[in-house]
Amino acid sequence: MSVPFKVAVAGLGTVGSGTVKLLQANADLIERRAGRPVVITALADRHRRNYDFSIDGYQWFDDGVAMAEQTDADVIVELIGGSEGVAKRVCEGALGRGRHVVTANKALIAHHGSALAATAESTGAILAYEAAVAGGIPIIKSLKEGLVANAHNRVYGILNGTCNYILSAMRTTGREFDDVLAEAQALGYAEADPSFDVDGVDTAHKLAILATVAFGCTLEFGSVHMEGIRHVSSADISFAEELGFRIKLLGIAALTDGGVERRVHPCMVPADAPIAHVEGVFNAVVTHGDFVDTVVQEGRGAGERPTASAVVGDIVDIARGQRSATFGVPAGELESLPAAPMSAHRGAYYVRLMVLDEPGVFADVATIFRDNRISMESVLQRARAPGEPVPVVMTTHETEEAAMLRSLDAITALGTCVEPPRMIRIEPF
Ligand SMILES: NC(=O)c1ccc[n+]([C@@H]2O[C@H](COP(=O)([O-])OP(=O)(O)OC[C@H]3O[C@@H](n4cnc5c(N)ncnc54)[C@H](OP(=O)(O)O)[C@@H]3O)[C@@H](O)[C@H]2O)c1
Repeated sequence: MSVPFKVAVAGLGTVGSGTVKLLQANADLIERRAGRPVVITALADRHRRNYDFSIDGYQWFDDGVAMAEQTDADVIVELIGGSEGVAKRVCEGALGRGRHVVTANKALIAHHGSALAATAESTGAILAYEAAVAGGIPIIKSLKEGLVANAHNRVYGILNGTCNYILSAMRTTGREFDDVLAEAQALGYAEADPSFDVDGVDTAHKLAILATVAFGCTLEFGSVHMEGIRHVSSADISFAEELGFRIKLLGIAALTDGGVERRVHPCMVPADAPIAHVEGVFNAVVTHGDFVDTVVQEGRGAGERPTASAVVGDIVDIARGQRSATFGVPAGELESLPAAPMSAHRGAYYVRLMVLDEPGVFADVATIFRDNRISMESVLQRARAPGEPVPVVMTTHETEEAAMLRSLDAITALGTCVEPPRMIRIEPF
């Protein structure tokens, strides 16, 4: 009989519960695939509750840090969350003792992944984090294994199901952001404090990790340009449809002549692009490898079962004895590439102004664009209401972000805009 692989799980909330249930439900199948039994030996949760799975026969801890220090398990599974505090101490403690760690904690990896990877390398432990990016989609494994032979120059995706749910519901119902957010909270798709999701922080954590694995560059969460979806209005969504686009919150990482672009913001994507059809709480990740070309993966990006699938996938890899460097190359060999400033980004733009319908207003706007060498591709002005505010929508040809921002400042200063200009970048996928 082969030696059982012992698992200790810290944090029995949504993902921890799913992980225990999956290891229990598919124990036989997992044993056949791992080549040895994969058994839970210890659990930790801050408040022991009535769980919808059995905890009989497992060593119990009220604190994950104590468990990481005391258990003889082969792997510590950190499912507590948060970039600092307990989760960090659990992982540092376990890796420092040479114990393997599996985590779903994108905040922790985005902020401290380099140091944790260095600790893991120094003690011979494995740090695995598939569940931290795009939930059930095995994108980290894809980049580190199946796509390992490719040079990647671009990776992007819908990495936050809450935002995608909100944008999809706004499009199909015509409702405004606040209204749909409240519904998402009632359905459990959004947290009571939704800022991590809707302000783009969660997507930025995942994008920082993706960029490092895809390009072999250092992990730099601070370099991610971050904008959320609070300012997307139903008017923008319907103008996007009219122009042949859909609005998605994307995380985009690209190697450019000016360095590594890491940006999270609402994007207009062509309505016939595969990513435009990823709706609701689903996630999708698109990679461009030099030999394989484009690979698109779509699936559930969060939730108890999909996230547990990714966590247990990592556990089985370690139980089998599979090992690869944390980010595809050893932590010390990650390249320190310059970060491309957002002001140097080049692309096409959608701009919506609410301007007083007066003679000469549009001529002033056109002059500002001309002075900043921005060429317009299309202009839409539907309603006519002399002296009243009306929407004017423009799309531009490719230009530099700095020129666009200068133009928007100048347009704001005209005094004929009754609300701040809205700008959304167009991605020509
Ligand atoms: N939920 C998802 O769909 C999802 C998807 C992908 C990744 N993730 C990541 O997975 C991780 C866990 O998320 P979650 O949604 O499962 O969180 P959660 O439901 O809040 O569960 C966290 C659990 O950890 C417990 N805990 C807190 N302090 C502890 C300690 N000192 N020792 C042991 N347990 C402790 C909490 O207990 P109390 O409730 O008593 O505080 C709670 O039971 C996070 O890093 C998250 O970003 C989640």
